[in-house]
Amino acid sequence: MKNIVLTGFMATGKSSVGKSLAAKLNISFVDSDDFIEKKLNKKIKDIFKENGEQYFRQEETKVIEELSSLMSCVISCGGGVVLNKNNIDLLRKNGIIINLYASAQEVYKRIANNKDRPLLKDTSVEKIQELMNNRKKFYENCDISIKTDNLSIDQITNLIISKIHN
Ligand code: S3P
Repeated sequence: MKNIVLTGFMATGKSSVGKSLAAKLNISFVDSDDFIEKKLNKKIKDIFKENGEQYFRQEETKVIEELSSLMSCVISCGGGVVLNKNNIDLLRKNGIIINLYASAQEVYKRIANNKDRPLLKDTSVEKIQELMNNRKKFYENCDISIKTDNLSIDQITNLIISKIHN
């Protein structure tokens, strides 16, 4: 079976849906951010603060190279993985690319009290919308796209399973 690769903007539910999907399909779950944190033994926000975004992106690409050789896994990707075309080309070889999206208002609501995302520190709905617009074309490079705003984790999981089987 091909991998199921979850992409999408921050806070669109990739990790929660990924875990639920892997459990339902009885396959393994991996998360690119978890992998980077374990490999470098450092939190994402500290990597950004101490080493910078460019360094994080280099490490992210190395991890994607590794993860893209897996089979029959759910792979949840950090929101910026799609920005490097090479990452998506690699993941697509063994995987079906699913984009989860949500409105800027919904993302803002979800991240309001969370300080773990360096790119959304002290943000606003307008700034989130701007970043989303800049990234739109990258997220659209996918096989299946799902709007998550009013759906539960379970509903999104079932929707993905039904779309994959079609
Ligand atoms: C990022 C998304 C984050 C994490 C890092 C950068 C991005 O992952 O990789 O903070 O550029 O969109 P999540 O999408 O899991 O929040």
